[in-house]
Amino acid sequence: MRSDTGELYRAFAEREAHGNSPIYQELAERVAEDGQLGALLDGLPAVKRQPNLLFAAVRHLGGPVTEGWPAFRDWTTEQWAGVSATMLERRTQTNEAGRCATLLPLLAALPQPLALIEVGASAGLCLYPDRYRYRYRFPAREEGGREREAGAPVAEFGAVVSPVTLDCAVSGPVPFPGRPDSPGFPGSLREWLPEVVWRAGIDLDPLDVRAEEDMRWLESLVWPEQTHRLERLRGAVRVARAEPPLLVRGDLNATVREVVAQAPAGATPVVFHSAVLAYLPPEEREEFAATVRRLPGHWISNEAVSVLPAVARRLPRPAPSGSGLFVLALDERPVAFTGPHGQSLDWFDEA
Ligand SMILES: C[S@@+](CC[C@H](N)C(=O)[O-])C[C@H]1O[C@@H](n2cnc3c(N)ncnc32)[C@H](O)[C@@H]1O
Repeated sequence: MRSDTGELYRAFAEREAHGNSPIYQELAERVAEDGQLGALLDGLPAVKRQPNLLFAAVRHLGGPVTEGWPAFRDWTTEQWAGVSATMLERRTQTNEAGRCATLLPLLAALPQPLALIEVGASAGLCLYPDRYRYRYRFPAREEGGREREAGAPVAEFGAVVSPVTLDCAVSGPVPFPGRPDSPGFPGSLREWLPEVVWRAGIDLDPLDVRAEEDMRWLESLVWPEQTHRLERLRGAVRVARAEPPLLVRGDLNATVREVVAQAPAGATPVVFHSAVLAYLPPEEREEFAATVRRLPGHWISNEAVSVLPAVARRLPRPAPSGSGLFVLALDERPVAFTGPHGQSLDWFDEA
């Protein structure tokens, strides 16, 4: 297949699946070369041809994604009516609670209590940073002449009881309260959680944590080898089910003002988003930025480097090429590079 769709699948195999999912890498490489499946995909609107959407739809319908290419191709072409209907009906809405580990240092530093407003919230699992536990670790590196053990813990703290512990590798001067080597650290962090008094999300198509079909869709979006993410997702769903979030259906530009206006007086409104604005054309991202600049409170963005030019221009150093890292920013001031699923936090010296 020598088409845009073929290129899309080849690029996905090389840049996204490579090193993360051998299963999806192989399937994407084979789809890229398959004329029949390529023609079927080309019958869908361009935004609906994404590899993640195809693979999630096949899994959602019980199709084989782990049994090799021939089984995948045969099943998918035979069941194309159902697969394409699912791809047209659903979106890639991966909801990754792990991203809370990268948002937390900023949330904890803002005037408390907080009213959280997440745009592009999916099922709202990132609206519970105060309900998860956190384990921050150093990556392996030299420090003060001695080698730190790979993954040595910096800090572990969070909600007293939680089915979810978020692991995050930290580097740079993450503003933990207290220095990692000081006596009493990390005990001093036990209270270091934001106080959230209100939480609301906006999404074009909010997923309901109480709806089995919606949760099955979220599970289908987790790549097959990433069983730790599946466990985390299930735990976060349990957290959210205990107190389901207020989720508003709509476009973020059309609704963000009215949702922020509902935040209770006395709380700091925090508009935040991760892995969302890339779905918008540049002019709609600009419209959103112009709106949020005029809103009360603070704005936290966690997006791919090129998504917000005003943030990218202020980066103190370029992101390592091909890393896929996101930039975390507070009110358009970049503070860190972050792993796209919250697995790492590299704080800038200048931040
Ligand atoms: C990849 S998911 C990320 C979900 C969540 N922010 C997280 O980090 O786990 C992107 C979400 O943004 C939503 N979205 C995309 N464009 C949107 C828009 N214009 N207005 C509201 N939501 C939007 C999608 O429906 C999807 O649920």
